[in-house]
Amino acid sequence: MSHVEISVLVDADARTVEALSQLLAQVSSSARPLDAGRVREVMQTPSTSVLVARLDGKIVGMALLLTLTTLARTTGYVEEVVVDHAARGQHVSTALMTALLDLAASKGIEFVDLTSRPARTVANGLYQSLGFKLRETNCYRHDLRQAATSLHGADLN
Ligand SMILES: CC(C)(COP(=O)(O)OP(=O)(O)OC[C@H]1O[C@@H](n2cnc3c(N)ncnc32)[C@H](O)[C@@H]1OP(=O)(O)O)[C@@H](O)C(=O)NCCC(=O)NCCS
Repeated sequence: MSHVEISVLVDADARTVEALSQLLAQVSSSARPLDAGRVREVMQTPSTSVLVARLDGKIVGMALLLTLTTLARTTGYVEEVVVDHAARGQHVSTALMTALLDLAASKGIEFVDLTSRPARTVANGLYQSLGFKLRETNCYRHDLRQAATSLHGADLN
């Protein structure tokens, strides 16, 4: 069986950008196409770590750890967890998320949060198997793309 290697992305050639792009499309249908500039920007963001999983040297999965610094505490937040279709069911995501939790602990983070739609059965099973506990909270999002349109409209009148 192939060995999974997990690492934090520190540079990205064209093949890496393409691999991340393919992965992103499998977790977000609304994501903009990924380019090298965006990958560089994310890698240069000190509060964001991009963990990648490689099987036989090829990137097959990723998970992002964001560090949120507030007055109360420093919290970890997980985004964009995905394993390529062809590599699923081999515990790649378990290895990725275990490494992510180790990285969070090494940064002094006490809590790691994430959200996952209930319909994502496998992802929810994964997180629970790793010790994540369901929290009762309301999850909100404000879409500033629409707000910008209506604000611009108001400015014009
Ligand atoms: C979710 C996802 C990352 C899992 O990747 P994976 O590498 O195939 O998962 P693993 O092989 O590591 O399985 C991890 C655990 O998930 C859980 N799991 C797997 N299949 C499951 C299923 N059908 N039902 C419930 N839990 C399941 C199990 O706990 C499993 O561990 P176990 O086999 O030891 O019991 C992958 O399916 C994926 O990329 N899905 C699309 C994107 C997505 O949903 N991302 C999460 C966004 S929140």
